[in-house]
Amino acid sequence: MTPRNNHRQPEGDVNPITASPDDSPAGLRSRPENTHFRKAVDEMEGYTPGEQPKRVGGWIKLNTNENPYPPSPKVSEALASFAAGCLRLYPDPECREVRGFLAELHGVGIDNIIAGNGSDDILTMVMRSFVSEAGVCACPDPTYSLYPVLASIQGARCEPIPLEPDFSFPANFAEKASGASLVLIPRPNAPTGTAFDKLALENFRRDFRGVVLIDEAYADFADDDCLDLAVKYPNVIVSRTLSKSYSLAGARFGYAVASEELISGMMKVKDSYNVNALTQAAALAALKDRAYFEETVAKIRATRKQLVKELLGMGFEVAASSANFVFAQPPDGDAGRLYAALKEKGILVRWFSSSAATQSRVRITVGTDDEISALLSAIRQLVVAGT
Ligand SMILES: Cc1ncc(COP(=O)(O)O)c(C=O)c1O
Repeated sequence: MTPRNNHRQPEGDVNPITASPDDSPAGLRSRPENTHFRKAVDEMEGYTPGEQPKRVGGWIKLNTNENPYPPSPKVSEALASFAAGCLRLYPDPECREVRGFLAELHGVGIDNIIAGNGSDDILTMVMRSFVSEAGVCACPDPTYSLYPVLASIQGARCEPIPLEPDFSFPANFAEKASGASLVLIPRPNAPTGTAFDKLALENFRRDFRGVVLIDEAYADFADDDCLDLAVKYPNVIVSRTLSKSYSLAGARFGYAVASEELISGMMKVKDSYNVNALTQAAALAALKDRAYFEETVAKIRATRKQLVKELLGMGFEVAASSANFVFAQPPDGDAGRLYAALKEKGILVRWFSSSAATQSRVRITVGTDDEISALLSAIRQLVVAGT
């Protein structure tokens, strides 16, 4: 069903949001005359981040997969005891303390880990490391919309490989990706929330000659993960982030696990001081507080279960989610109307309107129980009562 594109912004200065849904037009932009930019930059579209209201209060923000709970209290303690005088010095360029902790946590060596300024930074390093200018990478479609943007910046092409209608991993993935030097596969995938069959990924890796990046930004909310594949195989990298399950999106800390050979090459590519000193302190404190992490993840998983149950009960179609969000189609398939109506009620969800594969659904981040109750009663009014 084609969504109606009639969403309105709430009126007055209460609405600080200027961005609307994710509508980046497909295709290349034309080049302006007398440009100083590389052709690839002129012709590309930039990434469209989710809406970030300037004023947080008053909105129920379920649109960017942030964690609704604050970071561990240990993070506040670490930041409070951070000596500002240390900011005079550059941070540890190798992030050794945090990497050392992560190495123990995952049972790998410190040289199997690289840290980044969020996992987007890891993705940038991977793109720069393994895809040449005019080269090709591949990813599932639909997926995280940053991948093609990073490829464009590199002057490369990103081949989108359509998923099955139920968002599962397609049997022809290997064939379609055969010309790529890198494939990027989120597991769980975004925006679908689904976790591809692990064996299918492992088999794909065996036949693929390039590098496979498994983006595990949401893996802490899933039943399993693919870290063992990064340990076992020389062409697999697994990336993780502290943005979601550790509530540190604002601090920007991500990392990757891979063979020493891949990690040492990526070390040459990264910005020298890519993780600032405050973030290193915050990341270490958050990682060390295992009990808080586990409690928060458990709460989100429980709320997700309830959210899915209620949406199904109202006639939605909901993709099986292994993430901290769900990808749901309203009974009338008019996700644009639902997105706009929720926004008018002060509830932000995300609508990817530019692709046929996504435009009949909204992506809803799992919030607190109270936020999800408010969302569900708004949906009940809109969908069931038709008001
Ligand atoms: C699939 C996927 N990978 C990576 C990221 C980036 O996360 P970070 O905050 O670590 O840069 C996101 C962010 O939403 C994501 O959805």
